[in-house]
Amino acid sequence: MSPDNGKADFTHVYDRADPRDYFRSLAGLDYEMPQLAQPVFDQLLAALATDSDEESPLRVLDVCCSYGINAALMRCDVTLDDLFDRYTDPSLDDVSPADLARADADYYAERRHSDAVQVSGLDAAANAVSYGQRVGLLEHAWGENLEAADPSDACTADLSTIDLVTMTGGSSYVTESTFGRVAAAAGDGSPPWVAAFVLRTLPYDHIAARMSDFGMLTEQLEGVSFPQRRFASADEQESALAAVSSRGLDAAGLEETGRYYTDLYISRPAAEAADRSSPELLDSSAWSTGA
Ligand SMILES: C[S@@+](CC[C@H](N)C(=O)[O-])C[C@H]1O[C@@H](n2cnc3c(N)ncnc32)[C@H](O)[C@@H]1O
Repeated sequence: MSPDNGKADFTHVYDRADPRDYFRSLAGLDYEMPQLAQPVFDQLLAALATDSDEESPLRVLDVCCSYGINAALMRCDVTLDDLFDRYTDPSLDDVSPADLARADADYYAERRHSDAVQVSGLDAAANAVSYGQRVGLLEHAWGENLEAADPSDACTADLSTIDLVTMTGGSSYVTESTFGRVAAAAGDGSPPWVAAFVLRTLPYDHIAARMSDFGMLTEQLEGVSFPQRRFASADEQESALAAVSSRGLDAAGLEETGRYYTDLYISRPAAEAADRSSPELLDSSAWSTGA
């Protein structure tokens, strides 16, 4: 368990040569956040496409992208359950990472949507992002830690082309430092929209305040929370219940049921948000809030 926030520690599976250990570690915990996020990302991309007069495909930056999991779900006809089945299959036990990457490149290519969005991935885990790029999920892979330093010149140039920033499963790891550096890369242009699923144990105010420095208004989608995964232990649940309570939130029907829950925060240019609020862009009838 990590000492600072009571969360179970999965950092040992974040930077492997391939995603097998990541999926195997989370398999028993009903991890479902990336799947539940997809309809929201789809609807935001549709709204951006409607507003855009450009012919070129929209570009996404997935923050804390790991092995390219959101990219797989956005770009290919696969579900998170498909990925759990694939990477926990015992017949893969003796396959080398290089052979698995070759097989995965074919697997994702066969399932890629013809109009797939282009996804760049940012994650401090360099091996993970490099796998995501090697198998064709990530167009650009940035193994950089924007908590600690400005992006490289090449990364900055890529970030300046992004339309939508997405994040699932990363809220314990990145702060206003990362989001501020991503927004700053837009230079004189408008920063990209941001859609972040954030554990209810954590505040988002510092990130929202940093986004406002760039003329972005952050709105929380009220009235709906999304399950992330089951707690790994009673201690983890106890820490989460204490954190949620210290934020003045009610855990009834949510963390009390044995799972982490997230809230959705969307940042968009303030003028656009004043015209039409982020919740108004979204149609919750297409979503699931978990099993
Ligand atoms: C729980 S995983 C989430 C992966 C994926 N987005 C998902 O939902 O399955 C958290 C990820 O955050 C990454 N991470 C941790 N610290 C980071 C940092 N400072 N900058 C970028 N990524 C970081 C880890 O390497 C890991 O891949």
